[in-house]
Amino acid sequence: MKILVTGGTGYIGSHTVVELQQKGYEVIIVDNLSNSNIDVLPNIEKITGVKPLFEKFDLYDNVKTSDFFKRHNDIKAIIHFAAYKAVGESVEKPLMYYHNNLFSLINILYGMKDNNIKNIVFSSSCTVYGQPEQLPVKEDAPVLKALSPYGNTKQISEEILTDTCKTTDLNAILLRYFNPIGAHESALIGELPLGIPNNLVPFITQTAIGIREQLRVFGDDYNTPDGTAIRDYIHVVDLAKAHVIAVERLLENKNKLKNEIFNLGTGKGNSVLEVIKSFEKVSGVKLNYKIVERRPGDIEQVWADTEFANKELGWKAEKNIDEMNLSAWKWEKAIHNKATT
Ligand code: UFG
Repeated sequence: MKILVTGGTGYIGSHTVVELQQKGYEVIIVDNLSNSNIDVLPNIEKITGVKPLFEKFDLYDNVKTSDFFKRHNDIKAIIHFAAYKAVGESVEKPLMYYHNNLFSLINILYGMKDNNIKNIVFSSSCTVYGQPEQLPVKEDAPVLKALSPYGNTKQISEEILTDTCKTTDLNAILLRYFNPIGAHESALIGELPLGIPNNLVPFITQTAIGIREQLRVFGDDYNTPDGTAIRDYIHVVDLAKAHVIAVERLLENKNKLKNEIFNLGTGKGNSVLEVIKSFEKVSGVKLNYKIVERRPGDIEQVWADTEFANKELGWKAEKNIDEMNLSAWKWEKAIHNKATT
């Protein structure tokens, strides 16, 4: 059974490829390597014993995408990760984000229609909820106006999929991720941020290893127990496993609607200071950090209501914040050792 994973050399994509291969699926990756490294392929092979098929091209190129689907008309389902994802960059370069993220999805949907491929799992984000009025946030919470072009591409993509499901054979599962962190236990794959990391955990590990001098904690005057912002951090391998379950749900026609939405989180919120404390505990490294102003555009607190995903998918995130931080730290040390030897 052949599954196309777009963005399969990226952070969440590569972990999902591993889980798919370990369950016996044949995987073909399409990635333009704009935010990932070709070395991910041999590392996936080291973990699973199988090198995934791979093609490098831009999915926003409709000619290449259409040609790809003609050559691979045995694909049974698609997990679509490939997208630009930096919130700040999307504010600077909105057209680049709309062009890449939306054209890619549209080209894939045409390719699916032309080749009679009916199943797609889409990588969405809890960013669509903005700051929800009720916590934990359920899937039927209102989608608020996006705060960035990046967030808007996720909302528009969800709408494109929902509308297409209404009038075609398409079946879609939209997975709204909370905050994925951590790395594979082998420390062979993990997150590889380009340049200075925007996200908390890569910044923590890079500070601990000495690449960054100091971590800035953005704001301690939020209305939370310790004043720092709260997120629902989820281990990337737990997230990857949910993708396999979602794709199987579609392949086995177990979906109850043509278009289903699931929150993927742990259901537990952690503050920035709690994440730092957990990291210091599991790594034994004292972090150099200071409290600074809030980061513009950040919301105060969000965590998932996971009941629907737990019940319907029979899936539950298993790893706690200490395990997430420890795996992120092992990965940072592994890439650092590789770079210095
Ligand atoms: N933070 C710091 N210092 C840093 C980096 C982050 O204090 O150097 C704080 C942030 O202010 C926030 C928390 O750590 O309170 C988490 O920040 P991240 O950047 O790791 O994650 P976000 O929740 O801001 O963003 C994530 C995804 C986005 C997505 C968003 C949806 O990275 O792609 O969730 O809410 F849009």
